[in-house]
Amino acid sequence: MTVKTIGVIGCGLMGSGIAESCARSGFNVIVGELNETFLASGMNRLQKSLNRAVQRHKLEADAAAAAWARISGTVDLQDFADADLVIEAVSENLELKQSLFKTLDAVLRPDVIIASNTSSISIAALAAITQRPHKVLGMHFFNPVPVMQLLELVRGILTSDETMAFAAAIGARLGKTTVVAKDSPGFIVNRLLIPFLIDAIRVYEAGLASKEDIDNGIKLGLAHPMGPLTLCDLVGLDTTLAVADVLYEEYGEPRFKAPPLLRQMVAAALLGRKSGQGFYDYSR
Ligand SMILES: NC(=O)c1ccc[n+]([C@@H]2O[C@H](COP(=O)([O-])OP(=O)(O)OC[C@H]3O[C@@H](n4cnc5c(N)ncnc54)[C@H](O)[C@@H]3O)[C@@H](O)[C@H]2O)c1
Repeated sequence: MTVKTIGVIGCGLMGSGIAESCARSGFNVIVGELNETFLASGMNRLQKSLNRAVQRHKLEADAAAAAWARISGTVDLQDFADADLVIEAVSENLELKQSLFKTLDAVLRPDVIIASNTSSISIAALAAITQRPHKVLGMHFFNPVPVMQLLELVRGILTSDETMAFAAAIGARLGKTTVVAKDSPGFIVNRLLIPFLIDAIRVYEAGLASKEDIDNGIKLGLAHPMGPLTLCDLVGLDTTLAVADVLYEEYGEPRFKAPPLLRQMVAAALLGRKSGQGFYDYSR
């Protein structure tokens, strides 16, 4: 199938990055949000990211303008009727995603593939809501999407070979390297990353070292591009907590159990970069 228009639902941290990547790769993009306020702020984030890419000489100004011109926004799911692929990137909540998949299933052409960017929710649980379970898969991008090379493709129990091949081809068009994972919580990367991140929070919570020293220790000692607490702030503490909870519920292993400090910070809306304050202050 020729893909001209990709629908991206949710224009937060990930959705705006997915939309930007798709537009930069030549696809027309329609982004959907809950209301006009969230849509405006998502589009604003997207435009800033394009401008930043130009300033950093990663993108020509003409290409940024052309990408921007390919993107439109809506708050009405009916506007996705002509999309050739939809990637869902709304908040990490099963009921929310299931209700969205049900509506999308009714709105989209029957041949259209629906992908979820979920970090931890079962693809089978989303596919089962639709009349097209073989056309549902996980396309799990990494933040910041326009920069990060990896795309995890998640195969649900009913996902067809054709759907996997289609998603791999889209991934290649987006310039990503794809890896395939089974539909198990955390897939490959988060299954290994989350215990590491929450262990870093435990080390900080126990007062074993300062946040700067924890981050520098890992950054310089293991040659990671950033320390784990900085990475928590980038991912979003709410997302980190939600994924840890799902992993703990599924596997029941203490290494996946969220530390109290993480829960308290989320309750206090200290979510990291997106709220201006997490382990570090981003308000200035
Ligand atoms: N943050 C990460 O590093 C990361 C990485 C990979 C995958 N993910 C996954 O991506 C998804 C989105 O995460 P995020 O970090 O972008 O969260 P976010 O909170 O930044 O964005 C979610 C957006 O979804 C919107 N939304 C909620 N309900 C909606 C609806 N019914 N219709 C349209 N829009 C709606 C919200 O208004 C918000 O703008 C989650 O499933 C998360 O697990 C996150």
